[in-house]
Parts: sequence; structure tokens; C-alpha cells
Amino acid sequence: MNILLIGSGGREHALALKIKQSPLCKQLFIAPGNPGTAQHGVNVEIQSSDFRALGSFCLEKGINIMVVGPEDPLVNGIYDFFKSDPLLSDIIVVGPSAKAAQLEGSKAFAKSFMDRHGIPTASYREFSISNFEEGVEYLKGHSLPVVLKADGLAAGKGVVIAETHEDALGAFEDMIKLSKFGKASERVVIESFLSGVELSVFALTNGKEFVLLPEAKDYKRIGEGDKGLNTGGMGAISPVPFADKAFMQKVLDKVVQPTIKGIDEDGLVYDGFVFFGLIKVGDEPFVIEYNCRMGDPETEVVMPRLASDVVEMFIAMDQGNLSQYEVKVDPRSAATVVLVSGGYPETFEKGKKIDGLDQANDQNTLAFHAGVVEHEGLLLSNGGRVAAITSFGNTIQEAVDNSLKKIKNIRFDKMTYRKDIGYEFVGF
Ligand code: AMP
Ligand code: GLY
Repeated sequence: MNILLIGSGGREHALALKIKQSPLCKQLFIAPGNPGTAQHGVNVEIQSSDFRALGSFCLEKGINIMVVGPEDPLVNGIYDFFKSDPLLSDIIVVGPSAKAAQLEGSKAFAKSFMDRHGIPTASYREFSISNFEEGVEYLKGHSLPVVLKADGLAAGKGVVIAETHEDALGAFEDMIKLSKFGKASERVVIESFLSGVELSVFALTNGKEFVLLPEAKDYKRIGEGDKGLNTGGMGAISPVPFADKAFMQKVLDKVVQPTIKGIDEDGLVYDGFVFFGLIKVGDEPFVIEYNCRMGDPETEVVMPRLASDVVEMFIAMDQGNLSQYEVKVDPRSAATVVLVSGGYPETFEKGKKIDGLDQANDQNTLAFHAGVVEHEGLLLSNGGRVAAITSFGNTIQEAVDNSLKKIKNIRFDKMTYRKDIGYEFVGF
């Protein structure tokens, strides 16, 4: 199989490593990739938004499978672009149609989907400029804290958890009247706050059948003890100790199965990963969000723990053989610690020389590149999240400690990271 992977982050480095391990993978290309993905395949200078150029490249190289890492090209219709072109339609695309990607691309779409299919989620209402005043009254009477979500994609920044009615009304006005997130906040979902612990569950589906991948927990806040601003993710662990057999059975029965059934009943065309952002309230799972792709940095712990051949799984997805597919999982724990540029998630500098990154790789540790570029033989930082250092261990703590030990020998100017990833699970 010739495979094209779309994206350029730590998630794509982890996917590239896993895809290239498959004996079924003949050639691997990554567009546009990063210096880490280039260790496992050939990077191609095509942006993920340039569907036409990606299509031509697939024809030129005889690509059989295209794996789409990030959400933007999916929401913008890369699946539909390929499937509507007779020359490209035989290519297996791992990633849903634009319509199905609305499960991530529109919070209002996702909420009404969950409502329709009886999937547990926070109660909500949806507002826009046409019923703004009604929204103001609704907010004034809402219990606190209250959650406001810009409807569209806002790079993970479109959620406000307001502790007072005053803050809530301010955020509501910013979103709808002042277009704080542009078109994404033309519509706003207001929902009740759920109190509990979060985890991420992943499935690979063809819209009728699915398999589950190892679950993970990510650490979104910049500061230790989960304090400070939200980021794309500062680290992740897998497995998640509180996701025991009984709880995961509930997730399967109340969330995953009804979601796949709902996708089928609604006629949504869905090949690819579903990311269930869940919260455990008491003993019950609720859906906070759907994403139509793998998570980052969760992929950097999920892929290393996946003992099955991921390319074989993509083929089973395409051929309708997922229900018989048995996913094998490495029983060890994995943890990833993300190295970020000082100042992130606000302003930060790029172009810092990175030392010791690839030297961290050994039988227990994988150094995934994220915001990294190569320039004249040097690795330079090129983003907020620069690298994700994943290690295995017999326990979560051991896995985190192994990564922290390795990080001592990695350096770039103003490098920052959290030393407390997995802190709730010391002893697991
Ligand atoms: P989202 O972009 O929907 O994942 O929301 C970002 C983060 O906001 C989530 O990871 C949660 O930590 C938090 N969040 C979102 N919705 C709720 C909710 N209804 N109750 C509590 N926390 C929430
Ligand atoms: N780590 C959260 C995400 O990928 O959206």
C-alpha cells in the first residue's frame, strides 16, 4: 500500500511511525509533515488545504490510502473532494465526509445529534443574533457556572466557562455581537456545567461498525495542578485508571454504540476516527464534544500502545470487517510530556535551536516532533507545542518519570513543560 498522511504535528509523527511499522505499507508520504515524520517517510511540500494538489500527488504516486490528521481539511470537504472525482474515488480516505465532520465543526449540529439519539450530554440551548435578547434572559436565569461555546471551529479557544452572570453576558455579547471568533461565533451554544473527570475515548469506524482504541487523558491547562490558560494539550496518559471495565462498558453502551448507530441512521458518511471527549459525572459518562479525528497529544500515547497493525485496521474499515477485528493493546502504561515555547499559549518566539531531541529515542521513549523545522542541519522550534516526549512504564508514574528523565537532556531557549502530567494517578 502507498499511503499519504496529511498534517504536520506530533499526532502525525506518531501516526507516521505506526503506519510505517506495518508490513503492508510500501511507501509513506506526509504532506506537509515535519522533520520527525521525515524519519519514517517522505515529506511533500503540499498544504492540507490544497485538495487539488493532493489529488494530483495521489495519482502520480499511486496512493491507496490517505489518512487525514487534522480537522480543517475534513470540515472543508477533503473526503467529498476525493470521492466525487472518479480518478480518486478508489482511494481509501481515513476521515469523514464534510457533513459528518460537522460533529466537530458545529457544536449546535453535535448537540442536536446527541439529543436526537439519546446520547448523554449537558442540557443546552442555541442562540444567534436573531434571538439574542432571548439568550440574554436565558443566561440571566441560568445556574452557575455556565458554559458558552462558539458554534464553529475556533482552534480550541471557543469555550468560555463563566462563573458569574456578568461574565457570561459579556462573553455572549463578545461572541455574537462583536464576532470574537468571526463566523464561528455567529451561533452560540449555552450549556450547563458538568462537574467530573475528563477522558478521551477513540474509535475507528466505517459508519456502521467500529473498534475502540486505547483511551487517554490529556492535560489541557498550561500550569501545573491544572491551573492557567487552556492549551492544545500539555501531556497525556494511557490507560486512564478510573476508566475501569464497568465504566468503559457504560461508555460503549450509552455513548459509542448509540453514536455509531446515529451516524448510520442519519445517513452520515463516516470513515475514520471518532474522538469522544467525555466527562465522568459520578459513575456516568457524558459527551463534552466530538472530534472527527485523533487527538493531539493523545495520539502520542494511543498509537504507541496500539499493538495491532493500523494499516490492517484501515483496510478492515474499508472492507466492512471491523466488527470481527480484535484490537491488541500493549499492557504497559504510556505518558507523553509536551515541550512548549515560553509564553505559549499566548505570544512566543520561534526559531530556537533544539538540542538533544532525537537522542531521547530508545526502547522505552519516543521523541515526537510537533512545531519543529529543519534548517541547515539544525532543528529549530516552529510553534507553541514543539515536541512530545512519550515513554512507557509499568505504571503511569514510571512512564512520566521516564519522560521527565529524558527531557533533562533536551534543550531550547525558554523551553517549558509540566512536570505533573498524570499527577492524580501516582501509584497507578
Ligand atoms: P470543548 O472545546 O467542547 O472540548 O471544551 C473545552 C473544555 O471546556 C473541555 O475540555 C472541558 O474541560 C470544558 N467544558 C466544555 N463543556 C463543558 C461542560 N458542559 N461542563 C464542564 N466543562 C466543560
Ligand atoms: N487534545 C485535544 C484535541 O486534540 O482536541
